[in-house]
Amino acid sequence: MQTDADLNEPLLILRDVAIGYHPSDSLVNIPNLEVFPGEIVAIAGPSGIGKSTLLRTIAGLVSPITGRLEVCGAIMPEKPPRGHLGYIPQKLGLVRHASVKHNVELGARAGIKSRKLRQQRSIEAIDIMGLSEKSAEPIRRLSGGQQRRVATARTLAQRPKLILADEFLSELDEETLTSVLEAVTDYVRESKAALIVVEHDISRAKMMADKLLVIDDGRINPFVKGTKAMEVNM
Ligand SMILES: Nc1ncnc2c1ncn2[C@@H]1O[C@H](COP(=O)(O)OP(=O)(O)O)[C@@H](O)[C@H]1O
Ligand SMILES: [Mg+2]
Repeated sequence: MQTDADLNEPLLILRDVAIGYHPSDSLVNIPNLEVFPGEIVAIAGPSGIGKSTLLRTIAGLVSPITGRLEVCGAIMPEKPPRGHLGYIPQKLGLVRHASVKHNVELGARAGIKSRKLRQQRSIEAIDIMGLSEKSAEPIRRLSGGQQRRVATARTLAQRPKLILADEFLSELDEETLTSVLEAVTDYVRESKAALIVVEHDISRAKMMADKLLVIDDGRINPFVKGTKAMEVNM
């Protein structure tokens, strides 16, 4: 259970972090970023600038060149508690020959011990993503947009505290996009989770996010909605 104190603790803290694949060649520098429970932060910027690398670094898949990262209370290289971090990669990493149901249950396994509860959460997540009728279909028979929804269901079934979503709305038609975005947003607000979403479409990013971080030439520039300006200190 989350206590009130937990709700004031950031789910993500980055301090003087430089990311990239070579120590002498950083892609992005992030002086200071905090993400709190219930918050949605969008990251935008041109192709190849390092957006996916930033998410992969937060997910613990790429080591930062320098700096301090704290993810769900764990200071890197320590890993966050099992199931707390949910990651929807740009390349989805689904098991192509296995069914929708099987793939979603694999996600739930990260967060939930009881098999029965896992199955229940998986069915719910598949339903929320509008895929109930496709539940028994193998992934390879689905369209790109449907596969992206499976990856989203896989993460929602896990009930994570921090979701990292890399272009998870691409390949969706307008109607599906609205319902997928609403489902994920509702989850984040109701569960006091947080969402960090990479979104190449700036107007869409502005629409969904409390904070928008635009990566440009290795620097992060915050554009902040409403009254949140004081919370961003970069
Ligand atoms: N595994 C890797 N090793 C080395 N360089 C990589 C690797 N993955 C991506 N890159 C490079 O890092 C840069 C940023 O890539 P990426 O984070 O995927 O950009 P974005 O998501 O903003 O389009 C690109 O120049 C890309 O070619
Ligand atoms: Mg990318």
